[in-house]
Amino acid sequence: MNAQKFEIKTLIEAVEIAETIDRMAQQIKSELGDQEVILVGVLDGGFAVLYDLSRALHRLGMDKIVIDFIGIDTYGHGTTSSKEPKITKDLKRDIRGKIVLIVEDIVDTGFSLSVLQALLLSRRPARLMTAALLSKSARREIKVPVDYIGREIEDEFVIGYGLDFDGRYRELPYIGVVKFS
Ligand code: IMP
Ligand code: MG
Repeated sequence: MNAQKFEIKTLIEAVEIAETIDRMAQQIKSELGDQEVILVGVLDGGFAVLYDLSRALHRLGMDKIVIDFIGIDTYGHGTTSSKEPKITKDLKRDIRGKIVLIVEDIVDTGFSLSVLQALLLSRRPARLMTAALLSKSARREIKVPVDYIGREIEDEFVIGYGLDFDGRYRELPYIGVVKFS
């Protein structure tokens, strides 16, 4: 894969990401007010969105935020859709009776999110919602509810702001498209 030549083209600048996250935070705030919310960051890619979204919510006065993480390994689902993505790190907290918001970087086929939602729903939260910065709706293979979507993107491979290509580029402050030549 690394032998292949590619360029990175900027798709979403850092300021635009910040505006998008602020807009999502306003929607979440108008729905949830100042209730306690457990934000569940989906590792590895969700760390960037989780950090910025949690601060945007705090700025809007949501000061009862609890941050937790869950790890999911999605490899293999593309070829074998029946193969369930694997949970690599579980939550630290009991979410029973709590308001839970899953925070994802991107929803692609929807398989990993649907596994995650089923798992968390089985733990009986008061409410389970999902926020994803990006969505590639054209690639969806399984119907999955996403309450807050930052931005729809085309069927292109994106990197940066948490998203990786072969483990790299997660640290980029913007989102780029990988163009293979
Ligand atoms: P899904 O199960 O197909 O929806 O996959 C979602 C996961 O695949 C995301 O949480 C990402 O970790 C990864 N993913 C999907 N599309 C991209 C992309 O364009 N760039 C980097 N990672 C991606
Ligand atoms: Mg992910």
